[in-house]
Amino acid sequence: MKAFQLIPAIAEYADFKTYAQEAGLGAEDLILTNEYIYEPTISALDLGCHTLFQEKYGMGEPTDVMVDAILDELRDKDYNRIIAVGGGTIIDIAKVLAVASKEDKVDDLYDRMADLHKVHELVIVPTTCGTGSEVTNISIINRTTKGVKQGIVSPAMFANEAALIPGMLASLPYGVFATSSIDAMIHAVESFLSPNACAISELFSKSALHLILSGWRAAVDNGDRDAWKKYAARFLRASNFAGIAFGHAGCAAVHALSYPLGGAHHVPHGQSNQLMFADVMRKYQEKKPVGKLNKLEEILAAELDTEPVFALEELYKLMNAVLEKKQLREVGVTADELPVYAKTVLETQQRLLNNNYVELTEEDILSIYTNAF
Ligand SMILES: [Fe+2]
Repeated sequence: MKAFQLIPAIAEYADFKTYAQEAGLGAEDLILTNEYIYEPTISALDLGCHTLFQEKYGMGEPTDVMVDAILDELRDKDYNRIIAVGGGTIIDIAKVLAVASKEDKVDDLYDRMADLHKVHELVIVPTTCGTGSEVTNISIINRTTKGVKQGIVSPAMFANEAALIPGMLASLPYGVFATSSIDAMIHAVESFLSPNACAISELFSKSALHLILSGWRAAVDNGDRDAWKKYAARFLRASNFAGIAFGHAGCAAVHALSYPLGGAHHVPHGQSNQLMFADVMRKYQEKKPVGKLNKLEEILAAELDTEPVFALEELYKLMNAVLEKKQLREVGVTADELPVYAKTVLETQQRLLNNNYVELTEEDILSIYTNAF
């Protein structure tokens, strides 16, 4: 039994200015962010911190080339704390920088992953409401030299503090809100159903579900696309709670099966999870209709004012109102890819598949893909 442990301190602040004052940000600190985030919220505070804009070193997901270029840039700078303000890419890079010495390249860190130490104190300020990455200790880097995406993970990569500032979500486009809140909802469901869940992680899963579903319902009922912003604090907290839950119990088949969609067809992470979610749940119902899934149905039924037997279908409808679900063929997947995906997922995603509610065979996985196609 893995003991439940929560490492980063977690604090909520009214705005970035309040955080900066309380933390005493200044010349000894490095703010790692994007310029479009920095300009409207941080620039005018004249904090005198070192700043580094990630997009100047490459676009998209973190790569070894991008992180090495950032390490080169920082080599002659003196700073103590790293304040990472951004989404998944910024957070993943910051966790790596926090354990890198001046002379390190990314490859060196992989080589001594079991022996990494924190070099810089790390504070993470998430600006999306999905990854929950501010409370986990893993970064996924695309190692272009080796042609693989690989996790780098170490206890030293936990942040010292996750600082939740709802106002930092204000400029999030609707599409990013939709896919990231879907991702957080799925973290909550997968961690709840995981055989590695414990009573404490379940509390976080359930609370995240409550915050997200009530926020979605309020936003959808309002009808205005920006209505979710009124509930930004709720979604940010939910994403954090779901991160705490899956940090302990793990994610499972939905994440495992969505993995090839992101890689081959560049579907955003939260959306690729949505493409698989309903069909994974239906397979779970088919294979093991009596079990913890019924507890989930009861929780969802209470949130969605329905009977447990209709709860998952109601959830798909609500999610559809947040972001219309597509079929796999609509995002460019072809029928001949499905058996390849099923085989690859079974071979490479055991870390996630071990957290499944019920064991899935290659045949089951292919049937899920076929139903979602
Ligand atoms: Fe996720």
